[in-house]
Amino acid sequence: MKKPKRGPAEVAGSGGKGSRSERIFEEEQKYISPGFQGIALYSRLALASGRNEIVVDEDGKEYIDFVSGIGVGSTGHCHPSYVRALKRQLGRITYSSFTTEVRMKFLRLLASLLPKPLSRIQLFSGGAEAVAAAFRLAKSVTKKSEFVGFWGAFHGKTGGVLGLLGDEFKKDLGPFMPGLALSPFAYCYRCPLKLRYPSCGIACADHLRQVVRLQTQQQVAAIIFEPIQGTSGNIVPPKEFLPAVQSVAKEFGALLISDEMQTGFGRSGKMWGFEHDQLSPDILTVGKGIGGGFPLSGVVSTDEYCRAAPYSLPSGSSSSYGGNPLAASAGLATIQIILREKLVENAHTVGELLLKTFKGFEEKFEFVGESRGRGLMIGIELVKDKVSRERVDKKICHRIFHACLRRGLLSMTYSNPIRIIPPLTIPQKSAMQAASILEEVFSEIQRDGSYKQ
Ligand SMILES: Cc1ncc(COP(=O)(O)O)c(C=O)c1O
Repeated sequence: MKKPKRGPAEVAGSGGKGSRSERIFEEEQKYISPGFQGIALYSRLALASGRNEIVVDEDGKEYIDFVSGIGVGSTGHCHPSYVRALKRQLGRITYSSFTTEVRMKFLRLLASLLPKPLSRIQLFSGGAEAVAAAFRLAKSVTKKSEFVGFWGAFHGKTGGVLGLLGDEFKKDLGPFMPGLALSPFAYCYRCPLKLRYPSCGIACADHLRQVVRLQTQQQVAAIIFEPIQGTSGNIVPPKEFLPAVQSVAKEFGALLISDEMQTGFGRSGKMWGFEHDQLSPDILTVGKGIGGGFPLSGVVSTDEYCRAAPYSLPSGSSSSYGGNPLAASAGLATIQIILREKLVENAHTVGELLLKTFKGFEEKFEFVGESRGRGLMIGIELVKDKVSRERVDKKICHRIFHACLRRGLLSMTYSNPIRIIPPLTIPQKSAMQAASILEEVFSEIQRDGSYKQ
């Protein structure tokens, strides 16, 4: 691969000690609570501006954004149409839950993208809020109260959904909402049941049936899944898994919720993540990419289900900020850009190219255990060796992260599996430039053998 032309940032995360970026970061550190997003903390960057897939720090250094606000920035930074739409709306009306023409247009356009019978949308501001609202809807429809999710899942951090978080993040944060159960996800590279696909016969789907039978009172309102598990490493389940999950939901009269927070709006190379497996979910939760960076989320379902009380009663499904005119104009502009610029197709094409390159890394590098993904949602497993599949030490990930940053690439390489989630607008050239930075950094790690420690 060719060497990138981009001018490298000299010191990880900024112009170095005493730089403007570093000074602003340090000043903010005096006031901001510890615990803010890992990538922002590790990079020590203060960002000044952005245009499409490039962000610029306060010292004028440029970075390719392979993160897009963790899948938020579908249309890249400061897309001119997006900026125009929001500016126009700012001068008209910005808050209240009354009907506005912009919201009507947004909902009408969004509804046109939904496979029937999904047709109704309620708007919120954050992902966890939307998932909690989806649970209220499922309870209203089924009159049942239990929910089942999966190991490795992430649906947000608020009280109502935290119990469905499928990793140790929730340690010491209980007790959780009662009536929640988790079953292993089809994470084939690290099969939780220690089996091998396809000879496993998708035993994890059978396990789900047992979880519903034995770990619930069989009053399951809904089973919730991510079509591709994002936070735990862009894990794509084998083609049989999600249809089997849908069958289990049907068997027990539970609704099926597809959490499309990351997979929705084209990121996986199709408009919706569930389309890859030809599922027919009863409810979608949407967010992140829908707002192009503006806090906007929603719950989508059928006309029949949304008429169920108490969800359907006045104020039963609403919130203070949900569907405010600014959010609606952000959503409308975002979807218009996604459609006009064929970003679903771009996610598919550029994603395939990237994945092909990263598949090549499996051959080239002893510590790349697996590259996988769909569209612009790619995961790379870093291992000490390919037989034991033991994860590389976290220190290696941090080295990769800072080495990429010095070369002008902002990436989620600080954790393992690495996640690649650039804006859907990323041009092929930038994507391949970023891939070659990663290749150069991986070559260093391979040369010094540090991944074995
Ligand atoms: C699949 C999924 N659902 C829900 C959420 C929660 O979204 P928020 O952080 O906006 O609450 C996330 C966030 O990463 C997510 O990836």
